[in-house]
Amino acid sequence: MTMEPTYRGIEEAEREQAAALMMLGFGHPHRADYARRTVAEEFRVLEADGEIVSVLRQARLAQWWLGRALPSAQVLQLATPPEHRARGYGAVLLGRLMAELYDDGVPTVTLRPSTAAFYRTVGFEFAGSWSVYQVRCEHLPRSAAPWRVRRLAPDGLEPVLGLYERLVPARHGGLARDRRWWRRFTREGLPEPATCFLLEAEDSSPVGWMLVAFEPGMAVPPEPFSNRIEVLDWGCVPGAERGLLAALAGWGPLGGYVQWSGPDPDPVLFALDDEHLSMIARYHWMLRLVDLAAAFAGRPYPAGVDGEVSFTVQDTACPWNAGHWRMVLGGGKAELDRTGSVPAGRADPRGLAALFTGFADPEVLAAAGMLDGFGGAELGLLRAAFAGPRPWTAEFY
Ligand SMILES: CC(C)(COP(=O)(O)OP(=O)(O)OC[C@H]1O[C@@H](n2cnc3c(N)ncnc32)[C@H](O)[C@@H]1OP(=O)(O)O)[C@@H](O)C(=O)NCCC(=O)NCCS
Repeated sequence: MTMEPTYRGIEEAEREQAAALMMLGFGHPHRADYARRTVAEEFRVLEADGEIVSVLRQARLAQWWLGRALPSAQVLQLATPPEHRARGYGAVLLGRLMAELYDDGVPTVTLRPSTAAFYRTVGFEFAGSWSVYQVRCEHLPRSAAPWRVRRLAPDGLEPVLGLYERLVPARHGGLARDRRWWRRFTREGLPEPATCFLLEAEDSSPVGWMLVAFEPGMAVPPEPFSNRIEVLDWGCVPGAERGLLAALAGWGPLGGYVQWSGPDPDPVLFALDDEHLSMIARYHWMLRLVDLAAAFAGRPYPAGVDGEVSFTVQDTACPWNAGHWRMVLGGGKAELDRTGSVPAGRADPRGLAALFTGFADPEVLAAAGMLDGFGGAELGLLRAAFAGPRPWTAEFY
């Protein structure tokens, strides 16, 4: 008889096996280097009849929302071995993770889906983006003045880490990175580590950084050269983009072009003298509200938005979120309380996820059926409350 599946973490001795199952799920059974990059504490598994029937890897980095950091989790990978698929195990594993996060006081969890339909069944929705841009080096500004560019040794990143800490609060959706993220961006331990540049002001204070990989390609005649410069990560104080770009202008005659992931619109658009950049791809990340009330109360709101809106939530995956809620907005804050009356508005947890980050307009979510029964004034209030910068993260996971 099949017992109720067990949810648990793994022992160090099981890490290779869990990593191998993950790679099998993703169709990369020979990726031995994957196991090397994992730690046992990140894994959660579902076990049935003594066998692992679904596995995920998660991280717990805080995320910045309009200048305030809230605890958050990231599902890095999830897989159900082929022989156990379509039995509900993946959904149960995610549901159990969300219960764990709720108990740990983590109000949101995000991921990059390869199968959004699967994640939607447990309340995830698209809530932010990665936009990938390209510009040919010949279009970049040639002078970095008044800034200077300095090359850093890969183990000399301290000024970059300090600058990131200063700048990340202004990234709506930015992750509070740990050392592992920096090691990933610097390609530590790989045959070709990143080249690291620091941008400095005249007084030598750091104002920007750039971690790049040079990827020479096949030139297409009549072009004699082709050189892709992949920006693995970069950032600067507002307005210093020209300095970073100028550091790459010299590759223009070598067929150089720069590729990076950034917000939309990207400040680079305003640092170039014409519309030289092109967006070549856009991907979206998903968010799940684990603790609806804590998440909405945790992020800031525009100062002048006052009012209240009530709605009913049905949430089978996170039943503690279900019920009738009243959200009171004022003084740059929101408070959510249970209400005894039955509101006309109904909100799907997925719609609330896309609203929480300001990714989608409430009218769009209403048209998609994720907000229902709200009056025009209530939708207007929600629009004002959730207006703001478009959410994005520089970290692709
Ligand atoms: C995607 C994956 C994790 C699903 O695992 P699973 O254990 O088979 O999923 P479940 O049985 O729990 O499915 C839960 C729900 O998602 C739906 N679903 C699952 N896979 C789906 C897919 N590929 N497309 C659409 N819906 C899907 C199921 O129909 C089910 O819906 P229901 O509740 O309405 O019946 C599994 O197919 C897998 O490991 N794929 C390869 C790795 C991968 O893509 N991982 C996710 C990307 S990060």
